[in-house]
Amino acid sequence: MKVIQVKNHHDLGKKAAEMIISFIKKNPKAVLGLATGSTPKTTYKELIRDHIKNGTSYRQVRTVNLDEYVGLSENHPNSYHFFMREELFKHIDILQENIHIPNGLAENIGDECRKYDQLIQTLGGVDLQLLGIGRNGHIGFNEPGTSFENGTHVVDLTLDTRKANARFFTNLDEVPTQAITMGIKTILESRFILLLVSGREKAEAMSRLLNPNHKVSHDFPASSLHLHDNVTVIADTDALSMVYSIERRALS
Ligand code: GLP
Repeated sequence: MKVIQVKNHHDLGKKAAEMIISFIKKNPKAVLGLATGSTPKTTYKELIRDHIKNGTSYRQVRTVNLDEYVGLSENHPNSYHFFMREELFKHIDILQENIHIPNGLAENIGDECRKYDQLIQTLGGVDLQLLGIGRNGHIGFNEPGTSFENGTHVVDLTLDTRKANARFFTNLDEVPTQAITMGIKTILESRFILLLVSGREKAEAMSRLLNPNHKVSHDFPASSLHLHDNVTVIADTDALSMVYSIERRALS
């Protein structure tokens, strides 16, 4: 696992976007796995800025998003469909038919999950998977305790995650109780994983992830990333503030 330390959230966006842009230039038909949440917002802003300024094209790029809430329509302002449209897709030249996000309103959710995994296979797998991390170490919506053998599946969201995401809703009751998420197995099948981490509220999760005596354990889903041999973490100073000094020396 390679760690790149940046000063703040703004620099994190710049660095991540730089890596994604150079990846797309080398692989114009790349399959990008995309994430939502506050963390990738600065990255998406930089991608848009570059698209407008330098004309980097997404016409052949295909995207698959990590997750979606169960029960929210595409036009619900808190759905991840809506988020992606507003934060990225409507500002770049990606084709609508190349955008894929699980359907949280599917009549048969189990079927929707199976179809989503088939779709990823049909696309040839994910080339670059962007990830954020929850305070409890969740990736996508893979909460502590999730099996690493899961493909795309439905999850019951923990209260901690619902509370963390309640800031986007009017109140906690409005936060859905379930989501569809790519599983850890799906995530680990990506060829390259780029984990973005920003802010002090992620410091504990980072100190656990980067602890030299770390254990790969189901109760900390992000630890599964140690099983993958091509992971880069971009983290800002606040996120790394609880990483012990001996590890910090290794990072600098
Ligand atoms: C949500 C998303 C995750 C994301 C996490 C962290 O739970 N499902 O994919 O990584 O939140 O979000 P944020 O970047 O807002 O801290």
